[in-house]
Amino acid sequence: MNLADTNLADTTRAWIARVEAKLDAVLPAADQPPRGLHEAMRYAVLGGGKRIRPLLVYATGLSLGAPVTRLDAPAAAIELMHAFSLVHDDLPAMDDDDLRRGRPTTHKAFDEATAILAADAMQPLAFNVLAADADLQVADATRLALIRLLADACGSLGMTGGQSIDLSSEGQQLNAQQLEHMYKLKTGCLLEASVLAGAHVAAADAATMAKLRRYIDNLGLAFQIRDDILDIEGATEVIGKQQGADIQRDKATWPALFGIDAAKQKSRELLHTALHEIESLGPAAEPLREIADYMVSRRL
Ligand code: IPE
Ligand code: IPE
Ligand code: MG
Ligand code: MG
Ligand code: MG
Repeated sequence: MNLADTNLADTTRAWIARVEAKLDAVLPAADQPPRGLHEAMRYAVLGGGKRIRPLLVYATGLSLGAPVTRLDAPAAAIELMHAFSLVHDDLPAMDDDDLRRGRPTTHKAFDEATAILAADAMQPLAFNVLAADADLQVADATRLALIRLLADACGSLGMTGGQSIDLSSEGQQLNAQQLEHMYKLKTGCLLEASVLAGAHVAAADAATMAKLRRYIDNLGLAFQIRDDILDIEGATEVIGKQQGADIQRDKATWPALFGIDAAKQKSRELLHTALHEIESLGPAAEPLREIADYMVSRRL
């Protein structure tokens, strides 16, 4: 696929179609027993979403010369982990949300036990895709690196740890450093894994990996700040989630602690730094720049 031949909107549509086809293929059929479980898994994974993480996998991998067919499996595996995190995030024991991607959350569309189990099953499926997918034609050492990347991104020192800090921070006055740490873990780690997965498949050198890591670390923070701003400014029908949910739960967020203007200013600065970090990657990295703009200015 030659990125220069097409504008980003067409390109991202094609990438989204690719990852959704892979997700559809790896998820068990809805009529395969246990049916309720498989229906819930498909509901949680295939029902929309921006697919930002897969887009980062494709944009990074292709900009560094990886064949697109080797990026489908890491893109799908990361989206499976993301979808699992959203199902748990919405549970009554966590954020207790009824609306996700413009539809009832998985525990509302099914029941709590089914939602928990569906999310539980998405995790091993993600690792199975990385371990066994036939289109992922890379050396075993690269497969192992991808598996480790995803495991580290989602464990107690990554997304799960961040979710734990998020919950214990409700009603708390965090300082900027504490808040950045929580955002890095709960949201930044999986975004970073997305970029680094693309880079691993492309066998990027250490210097390029380091630039990409700084790019996505800044952008990941900005992405979560945008999420928090949209919770305040976005209309429920547009964002597909209940507006004001963070305020209702007294969540520690950038706009709540430092004000909405400071949050917007911070996200602009982070975007600027992110773009600066990948200047030297040249025209091939243009999709990464456009995705960065989109992640910070998005309306949903
Ligand atoms: C929502 O992620 C949770 C955060 C980490 C901010 P997204 O905004 O990527 O959600 P979808 O996948 O597009 O629904
Ligand atoms: C979610 O953060 C982060 C993860 C799911 C890991 P939020 O709780 O802010 O995400 P939304 O707003 O419910 O999508
Ligand atoms: Mg949450
Ligand atoms: Mg939430
Ligand atoms: Mg949120």
